[in-house]
Amino acid sequence: MKVIGINASPRKKANTQTLIEAALGGAAEKGAETRLVHLRELKINGCKGCEGCKKQLGKCVQTDDLTPLLQEMTTCDAIVLGTPVYCYHVSAQFKMLVDRLYSFFESGENPETGEPTFKSAFPGGKNLLLLISRGDPEPSPMYGKFYKHLDEWLNIIPFALGAAQFEFLHQYGAHLERKSAANDAEVLQKARLAGAKLVGK
Ligand SMILES: Cc1cc2nc3c(=O)[nH]c(=O)nc-3n(C[C@H](O)[C@H](O)[C@H](O)COP(=O)(O)O)c2cc1C
Repeated sequence: MKVIGINASPRKKANTQTLIEAALGGAAEKGAETRLVHLRELKINGCKGCEGCKKQLGKCVQTDDLTPLLQEMTTCDAIVLGTPVYCYHVSAQFKMLVDRLYSFFESGENPETGEPTFKSAFPGGKNLLLLISRGDPEPSPMYGKFYKHLDEWLNIIPFALGAAQFEFLHQYGAHLERKSAANDAEVLQKARLAGAKLVGK
């Protein structure tokens, strides 16, 4: 069983990375082979919107450091994705990954009913864990409605990847303190357990 962790925080050895490492540690304790990738270390282009992938679903026309990672995401058994909250949304690195995952997806319309349709070439059935670290506490003292929007938007990921099981684990109240996750035994334990659950043994 192979579990890949993808860290979308631009900050080294900070909260998102700590949470992903805890989750991968939990998976490894259950016997999984794990690998951690930092998007900040990769040269990644944004989606060009060329729609070339719609001619060959699952194949982005661009070749960059994300190309082998997208491939690895299709072949691994479970995925841990981690992002900090930036301006009430995910980090730019995370959004870039999601936009490039668009190469697997096709939406359209049922010609008979007019209902929207969605097709994915991404091999579904994987377990998925999303780790989200944010500065604000919960409930947020300000602009709580923007977090509702973010929480709703995050659901696109397990839906589009056809996840068998998924879990969102939030770290709240990290402020700008890089070590707040490392100093929070409770959230670390939750991440470890959630990682172990990915292996499902
Ligand atoms: C550019 C930027 C924007 C941020 N925006 C938010 C925000 O909208 N809400 C929030 O709760 N925290 C915000 N934060 C704080 C981070 O979410 C928080 O420090 C998080 O723990 C960072 O993760 P990291 O330690 O992995 O880098 C922001 C931080 C930065 C640098």
